[in-house]
Amino acid sequence: MNVAIIGYGGLGKLHARNLGKMNDFKLTAICDINYVPQADNTYSHFGPAGTAGKPEFTVYEKSAKMFKNEKIDIVIDALPSYLHTEYNIEALENGCHVFTEKPFALTVKDCEAVIRAAKENRRTLMVGHCMRFWPGWKELKEYMSDKRYGKLRYLSLRRMGGSPRKESWFSNPKKSGGVTMDLHIHDVDFANYLFGKPRAISASGIYDKAKGIDVVNAQYRYNDAVVKIENGWIGQSAFVMEYQAVFDNKVLTYEDGKLLGFDTGDKKFTEIPVENMGGHQAELAYFLDCVKNGKKPAVCLPEHSRDSIALALAGAASMKSGRTVSLKK
Ligand SMILES: NC(=O)c1ccc[n+]([C@@H]2O[C@H](COP(=O)([O-])OP(=O)(O)OC[C@H]3O[C@@H](n4cnc5c(N)ncnc54)[C@H](O)[C@@H]3O)[C@@H](O)[C@H]2O)c1
Repeated sequence: MNVAIIGYGGLGKLHARNLGKMNDFKLTAICDINYVPQADNTYSHFGPAGTAGKPEFTVYEKSAKMFKNEKIDIVIDALPSYLHTEYNIEALENGCHVFTEKPFALTVKDCEAVIRAAKENRRTLMVGHCMRFWPGWKELKEYMSDKRYGKLRYLSLRRMGGSPRKESWFSNPKKSGGVTMDLHIHDVDFANYLFGKPRAISASGIYDKAKGIDVVNAQYRYNDAVVKIENGWIGQSAFVMEYQAVFDNKVLTYEDGKLLGFDTGDKKFTEIPVENMGGHQAELAYFLDCVKNGKKPAVCLPEHSRDSIALALAGAASMKSGRTVSLKK
C-alpha cells in the first residue's frame, strides 16, 4: 500500500523511520512546505541498497497536487496541531485511511467533523495516542483489566518538558493548544483509556508567556479511584515522563523508561520486564494492521480520542474558572 506523510518535521521523520521497518507499505510521497533534503537522513530506509540519498518518494509542497498525481492509500498526518482537521478531512475525502498525530484537533467540533468524514468515506481513522502502546504503560492497562493486583485505586501521571522555542508554532497556544494539547492530552487520554470519563475534574495551573511556563495540574475523581495529572512546559527543563500506580496489592512506578514493582513485604522496587517495541512503532504497526485487515482500531477509536479532547478542555475550563467541573455520564 502507498503511504504519504504530510508534515515531515520531527514526528513525520520518526514515522518514516518506523514505516521503513514494516513490510507491505511504501512511502510514496511526502508533503511539506519546507522539505530540506540535506537534513533528511531518514529516506535511505526506503530505497534499495546503494540508493541512499535517492529517495523513491516524491516531495510535494501542496497536498492537492499530491492527491492529484499519486495513488495514495494511507496518510500519516504529522502537521502542526492546528492544521490536523483540514488536512485529515482532505485525505479522507481523497479515499485515504488516516493516522493522525495527537492532539486529534483543538476542538471537539473539529474531532466530530473528521470522524464524520471517515464514516462517510468508509476509511480507517486513528489518532496516534502512543501511550496506549508504550512499553511499561500498556502493561498497566492489562494489569487493571485482569485484576491480578486487585483494583487500581490511585494513579499519578507526570509529564514535564522544556518550553518550546519562541519562534516555534508550539509557542502559539492558538496553533498548538499550549501544554494542554501538547503534553496534558497524552496523560488525559491514558486516564480515559484506563478509567473512562471521570465524575469531576478540578484543575489549577500557571500560564506565564514571558517566562515560558505553562503548567496544568488536574485531579480526576472516579467513584473508587483518583487520578492526578501533572504536566508542564517549564523553562530549560529536560523531558520527564513517569507514573505511580497504586493497586490493592501492588505499587507500580514507571521512571527513567523502566517499569518497577513493589509488593507487600518487599524492601525495594524491582524491575518488571516489558515488551521492547517502542510506542511509536507499535501504534503505527497496529494501525497499519487494522487497515490491512479491515479492522476497527479498537485499542484507540477516534470517538475515544474525541472524548479525551473534551476532557482536556474541561480541565482547562476548571483551571480558568477555579471551579470543579462535574461531568454527566
Ligand atoms: N506522539 C508524540 O509523541 C508527539 C511528539 C511530538 C509532537 N507530536 C505531534 O506531532 C505533530 C507535529 O509535531 P512536530 O514536533 O513534528 O512539529 P514540526 O514543527 O517538527 O513539524 C511540522 C512539519 O509540518 C510542516 N508544515 C507546516 N505547515 C504545513 C503545510 N501547510 N503543509 C505541509 N507541511 C507543513 C513543517 O514544515 C514541518 O516540517 C503535532 O501535532 C504534535 O502535537 C506528537
